[in-house]
Parts: sequence; structure tokens; C-alpha cells
Amino acid sequence: MALDPSLPLGVFDSGLGGLTVAREIAAALPNERILYLGDTARVPYGTRSAATVVRYAQACARALVQRRVKALIVACNTVSAVAIDVLRADLDLPVLGVIEPGARAAVSASRRLRIGVLGTAGTISSGAYPRAVLSLSTRAEVIAHAAPLLVPLVEEGWLEGDVPRLAIRRYLEPLARADVDVIVLGCTHYPLLRPMIEAEARDMMGDVSIVDSAHATAAELSQLLRDRGLVSTGRGDIELLVTDRPRSFAEVTARFLGDGPREVQVIDL
Ligand code: DGL
Repeated sequence: MALDPSLPLGVFDSGLGGLTVAREIAAALPNERILYLGDTARVPYGTRSAATVVRYAQACARALVQRRVKALIVACNTVSAVAIDVLRADLDLPVLGVIEPGARAAVSASRRLRIGVLGTAGTISSGAYPRAVLSLSTRAEVIAHAAPLLVPLVEEGWLEGDVPRLAIRRYLEPLARADVDVIVLGCTHYPLLRPMIEAEARDMMGDVSIVDSAHATAAELSQLLRDRGLVSTGRGDIELLVTDRPRSFAEVTARFLGDGPREVQVIDL
């Protein structure tokens, strides 16, 4: 199927956390239209079984493809971990997840190939990050741990102070013991805690690099669009679709997207 470069990019996530990925895409590709779908009626995905996440992901992908998009970006780490192969098999357009770009960025940032990963329970138990890293370097060691409390902390806007600091330190302990030199933020929500994660990791481990899979994904998407002749020359914007209107929608959107309240359309999947 010939794809039209002026079509929007379809980006979806379990909720609004994937706006951290949309924000990086908008910064890297300012001429692209982004159609963002947050499945706010069914968030979180990170605590659910792989079979359920696959089913939800297929419904989100269908909704975006029906609205015509030129590529699908799976902003959610949990969906990227358990459903990317199914989506690629189902769909006749480029599908990019966040795990492979994050793994590539981690391998290139690591000097000793000791790579730590934090993510949801679903992402970590899938083994997707170790698999992706080991496919790039068989010498790498991946120490992956679930950090489930960080998602609700970010959603509450609790980005500073003792509560997130103590949770972060606790989650970093096994990575510090394993002497990692890179930590991958393997969840849409963690980039908002990046300053604190970075500060605490340096305090505990000294010289350690933080890799944000949102940033790495935007860079790989730019390359993919160039390679396929799909770069838009039009005017960029972000259109938001959600499956339920969260109570503090404007506040949460502003937190993830970094500017004021936006128009949103509520859809059914
Ligand atoms: N979007 C999810 C992820 O990146 C985090 C939130 C959830 O559990 O749904 O894994």
C-alpha cells in the first residue's frame, strides 16, 4: 500500500503517559501531524496479562488505522514488550515500538555493557528488554526490575520530595548492587521523574547514564520516515483521542505534554 506523507502519525499508549513520546516526536519532527490515542478507560496495562494487553493493543491500532495514519508508533513500553509482533503481522504499515530504540540507545551508551532497566511488571516479566539488548550484543548483561509505584506517583504529579525519592532509591538498589553503568527508563511515565532518578542514581552509583526510550524512539522514527520517503512538509500538530475523559485531564495533559490544556475527543474502541 502506498502511504501518503501528509497523513498523520498514529501514536498510542495505555493512557496519557505516552504523551512523553509524542512530545519527543513533535520536537524531532515539527512538520508532522500526530494523532494520539490514550486508552484512558483501561489504563493501566502494566499490571495486566499479556493476552489482555494484546487484545487492547489491537483495538487501539484498529481505531488509528481506520482514521488513516502513515505509521503506527507504540508509545507504551508494556504494549511494545508483548504485542509488537502481533501488530506488525496484523498491519500493512510501519510499526515502531519503544523497546528496540531504547535497547539500541542503551547499548551505545554503555561502556561496560552492564545495563539496568526499570519498567512495569508486564514489561519486565516479558523479558523484552533483555531480548532486545542481547540481540544487539551477546556480551551485554541486563538487570531488569519492575518499579510499579512510579506510575501512580507520576499520575498524582508527585515528582519531588521524599516519597518519590525513597521509592526511586529502593528500585535503584538492585541495579546499584549489579553495578550497571546505564539505566533505561522503560516506561512512558519515568521521563517525568528523570531529574530525580538521575540524581539518586549518581548518588548511589557514581557515573551512570540514563537512557530515555522516548527520545531514542523519536530519533529512530525520523530515520524511518526519511528512509521510506514519508517525511511531511506540512504544519505539525497533535490531535488527542481518549477512551474516557480523566477527571484532571487538563492538568495531566499539561504535565505530560508540557503546555496548556488541549482539545480532546472521547472515542469508543
Ligand atoms: N504506558 C505504560 C508503559 O509504558 C505505563 C502505564 C501502564 O501501566 O499502563 O509501560
